Amino acid sequence: MKYKIALVKGDGIGPEIVDAAVKVLDRVGDKFGHSFTYTDVLAGGCAIDAVGEPLPKESVELCLSSDAVILGAVGGPKWDTLPGHLRPEKALLGLRSAMGLYANIRPAVLHEALLSECPLKESIARDGIDMVIVRELTGGIYFGERGRGEGPMGPDAYDTERYSVAEISRIGRIAFGTAMKRRKKLVSVDKANVLESSRLWREIMHSLAAEYPEVEYSDMLVDNAAMQLIRKPSQFDVIVTSNMFGDILSDEASMLTGSIGLLPSASLGSGKLGMYEPIHGSAPDITGKNIANPIATVLSCAMMLRYSFGLEEEALCIENAVSMVLKAGHRTADILGESNAAPLTTTQMTEKIIENI
Ligand code: IPM
Ligand code: MG
Repeated sequence: MKYKIALVKGDGIGPEIVDAAVKVLDRVGDKFGHSFTYTDVLAGGCAIDAVGEPLPKESVELCLSSDAVILGAVGGPKWDTLPGHLRPEKALLGLRSAMGLYANIRPAVLHEALLSECPLKESIARDGIDMVIVRELTGGIYFGERGRGEGPMGPDAYDTERYSVAEISRIGRIAFGTAMKRRKKLVSVDKANVLESSRLWREIMHSLAAEYPEVEYSDMLVDNAAMQLIRKPSQFDVIVTSNMFGDILSDEASMLTGSIGLLPSASLGSGKLGMYEPIHGSAPDITGKNIANPIATVLSCAMMLRYSFGLEEEALCIENAVSMVLKAGHRTADILGESNAAPLTTTQMTEKIIENI
């Protein structure tokens, strides 16, 4: 089969890790007889530099006409002082919204070979960490009304958290469906003791729970969830939460697995088109040094094969290759830990993964 993939390499380490992932994909294509064609798409800080805006209309169209999008990272200190609507992050939010990608799937798995990289006590880590965070991605405070005004204490600013029944139901269904394919446990995270939007969120989740009697469902307040992720991460199978809470909790969960450089994500909508990206950022401090960990992007490609192309065997092949490489002790600098072995470069790690495909 032939697949058209849009590459939004973006800023910082984005181009290095996307180039690495493409090499792995091409190897998978050779092995299984698929052909992947790639189109570079301009978005983020590099687009601001080139054409004066973070997300040119043409870039959106290129993504919409592809079978899937792979995104490296956007942003960097160079563009940090620009006004909100001109920031590189606008490109990411704009693409999520324009492509209707309301569901962000972020698995956090602690590989056995990386047990010593988990910052938690060994007695806690040994119980295992294998969860999926399902984050709502096109609503809530990220997309609510915002502005500046004049309040009782002088000039002020506001952002609004607003969720519709329809938005909550559709992300809820994705989460229950995800739980059904896993250990059948779902925790919905909210702040229903304070926020009205969370109370609606909880009501809808409860009515869905009645439709999925096999799923062991519970609610958790977000502050408690932040604590429970550290106290006993093994209790989590699937977590569903809002855009903002999901942003924060997924970074927290990622660190439990040893490095944010390992975790992939998929952003999905109602069709097959999806956007796949590592959950880490553009890492300006290590840009251009060929030391970034390509694994998060490589695993994002596995998610693309699975969710957008329905190629389960091919996806597993990539995931197994990564596990084997880690088991064999190959490490990039971010997951080196106490070891005094020389870390692999981005290119060397990519080669190791390819050898195991
Ligand atoms: C993420 C990132 C983005 C977000 C930023 C870069 C806008 O942190 O994908 O988690 O907040 O969604
Ligand atoms: Mg984030």
